[in-house]
Amino acid sequence: MRDAAPPGTLRTSTAPADAPGPGSAHAPAGLAHAIEVHDVTMRFATAGGDVVALRDARMAVRPGEFVCLIGASGCGKSTLLRIIAGFETASSGGVTVAGRRVAGPGPDRGMVFQDYGLFPWLSVRENIAFGPRARGKARAEVAATTERFLDMVGLRSFASSYPHQLSGGMKQRVAIARVLANDARVVLMDEPFGALDAMTRERLQDELLALWRSTALTVVFVTHAIEEAILLADRVVVMSPGPGRIVEDVAVALPRPRDVSSPEFNALRRTLSALLHSGHGRAA
Ligand SMILES: Nc1ncnc2c1ncn2[C@@H]1O[C@H](COP(=O)(O)OP(=O)(O)OP(=O)(O)O)[C@@H](O)[C@H]1O
Ligand SMILES: [Mg+2]
Repeated sequence: MRDAAPPGTLRTSTAPADAPGPGSAHAPAGLAHAIEVHDVTMRFATAGGDVVALRDARMAVRPGEFVCLIGASGCGKSTLLRIIAGFETASSGGVTVAGRRVAGPGPDRGMVFQDYGLFPWLSVRENIAFGPRARGKARAEVAATTERFLDMVGLRSFASSYPHQLSGGMKQRVAIARVLANDARVVLMDEPFGALDAMTRERLQDELLALWRSTALTVVFVTHAIEEAILLADRVVVMSPGPGRIVEDVAVALPRPRDVSSPEFNALRRTLSALLHSGHGRAA
């Protein structure tokens, strides 16, 4: 990848004193959970009848925790993320983020999609600046924030390029920078690396972990790949299909960086694979 951030680029990034890092205030002091999902049921009315996408889904994520969500295709992972993001309203139950009930989208929660979701008519720099500008930040502050995150994702020399001129990995870096520039404390990622080649995916996994560590972000990351979940997460939450419920919650206590060939990694891989392929979790 041209102009890819050299390894370590994100690792060394720290927020300057005048711009609190995304993790610095993501929950009031003493709050046990950054995200709480309370018995969320989601029903969609369709021509063929109601679809129950989620039934009594319940989970909690601590501030600064990295949680991966896995489950068969159609089990409601994206729906759950969209409800946390505030793009959808649960049919019953609800979500609190940093102790406040979610009633709609907010800059405190950023969502990163597999298909990037960039504004195609804006340059890389304008995409990153969009959120802070829309929130009425002063021009100098918008510029400083934008340049900081452009550097953090190693895309300075592509600042004036448009999304269609970038590789998939670069587009995903812009998407991540855009969310962080908007001061997101919670990042919701829906198979963000699913469309990338294996090498780019590995690179971005490393960069994301480094960024997460240096900022104390709270991350909920949806993936189909068991290995990716074990590599990244503090905890892997397994959902059952139709309608989605949370059926298992598996802590990943392995030290980072994780060795994908270690016996402990393999044991977890087998455990999660068995859960996904058991009665309640036929994998996609
Ligand atoms: N807007 C909608 N209208 C009707 N049904 C919907 C809507 N959104 C999702 N669904 C249904 O809800 C269920 C869960 O969908 P969702 O996209 O959350 O699954 P997923 O776990 O993210 O799947 P995948 O792994 O394939 O991305 C599916 O049956 C889907 O068809
Ligand atoms: Mg999905």
